Amino acid sequence: MKRRQFIKVTTGSTLVALVGTSQLLTACHTEEDMIGEPNWIVEGAFNRQLVIPPVVTGDIQLTAKAISGEMLNDKATSMLSYRDGMIGPLIVANSGDTVNVKLMNYLLEQTNIHWHGLILPADMDGHPKDVTSTGGELQYVLPIQQRGGTYWYHPHPHGSTARQVFMGLAGMFLVRDQEELGLQLPSGEFELPLIIQDKRFDGSALDYSPTDEEIILGYLGEQIVVNGISSPVASVANVWHRLRLLNGSTARVYNLSFSNGLPFQVIGSDGGLLAAPEHATSILLGPGERADILVDFSTLSVGDEVFLVSNKFSEFNEQGRQRFSIMKFAIGRAGSSNFILPSSLSTVSIIPEALAVKTRSFNIGLMIDEEGHGTDMGRHSINGLTFDMQRIDATVDAGTTEIWEFDNSGGDEIHPMHIHGVQFQILQRFGGRNSIIATEKGWKDTVLVMPGERVRVIMTFSQHKGVFVFHCHNLEHEDDGMMLNFEIV
Ligand code: C2O
Ligand code: CU
Ligand code: CU
Repeated sequence: MKRRQFIKVTTGSTLVALVGTSQLLTACHTEEDMIGEPNWIVEGAFNRQLVIPPVVTGDIQLTAKAISGEMLNDKATSMLSYRDGMIGPLIVANSGDTVNVKLMNYLLEQTNIHWHGLILPADMDGHPKDVTSTGGELQYVLPIQQRGGTYWYHPHPHGSTARQVFMGLAGMFLVRDQEELGLQLPSGEFELPLIIQDKRFDGSALDYSPTDEEIILGYLGEQIVVNGISSPVASVANVWHRLRLLNGSTARVYNLSFSNGLPFQVIGSDGGLLAAPEHATSILLGPGERADILVDFSTLSVGDEVFLVSNKFSEFNEQGRQRFSIMKFAIGRAGSSNFILPSSLSTVSIIPEALAVKTRSFNIGLMIDEEGHGTDMGRHSINGLTFDMQRIDATVDAGTTEIWEFDNSGGDEIHPMHIHGVQFQILQRFGGRNSIIATEKGWKDTVLVMPGERVRVIMTFSQHKGVFVFHCHNLEHEDDGMMLNFEIV
């Protein structure tokens, strides 16, 4: 949306209703400022222990239901969960396993599960048409025929995905393989799965009620939770740690960094290990993306504290204008480890561009009205189309390679684009940042396309024939219709 036009149509009392009265009381100097103010993050005391969700393997039962947990200090929070506790269990499987998951739906609405990043038969992928109603169940049989990596799972019922994820339905799904085990990376208590999300509360209840403006910009909460706990602390030894980071927010982008500038090594992205560690001091992680990083706390002493923070990343984007802390690492004891950072991690074979049988371009920077015409105030679209459960928007041949281009060069919103049923490689980014960051050098299933950017990705489709979706992983945008079907034939 063009901000100026938005201001034009929202004057006087309408504006109050759209931005909320609390924001009017904070520093607003001009109308432009007022629209551009983010929902400022409120940090907690960083005194609640980080919780690692329980590990489950093999035959798994997940029950989607309403529970009461404690996301904030001393406040019972009503939320949704797949278990009796906040955030779904940590599913761990080995490459080559078949994982059986039974989902029981105790919600008052339809749901299903999508296994984000896994390459599965179409009927197991959690397409929005494959849902179960209240009291029903779904049996998932998941053949894990891909490399180790940090994958995740969440509901995918069209129109309700954002709310169900926001209310608590999400979990991490780690796949391990021999190659990764051979590296003897930090494990056990030194490997931390961290699901980062932002939440908004109404009293003690999680509050998911986006306004029209928030459907456009994304619904931003003012409390950051990690594994369901707001402003947590992890007491750690001063040795190498492996952090498996997942941005499980509906719309918020994090510019992850350590408060003292401590550098870290990116070892993996969405689809597993990179070829070699990439030195970094910050990474931009969009909704749905993962980063597998190693950080060496050995320069810190017992009693020291360091925060995982999100730095400012844009003066022009509402949510890029604030720096805030996400969680605290408190060095609680001295440790010793003989871990040595390997110089190479894996083989990532580059897909040659010449293999591509087709190049498709998707305009993701356009909003459309009910008749499908371009507009400044309508719905999010891909190539001027919004999601239609029955319509097939692209047909690809099983086993072939294609280049897809996501074009946000004319857009002014952030779109993390995600393709189901495949892992891709990022070829180039034109405009905006004009380059590829550390986490983008390996296998990916979600790529951040910032305003003004055009990103080309290359991928080889699997032999799993059937209908899959691709969409913006800003879940407000997805539910608004920024999703299309493609069929592998
Ligand atoms: Cu994680 Cu179709 O989404
Ligand atoms: Cu997915
Ligand atoms: Cu989007």
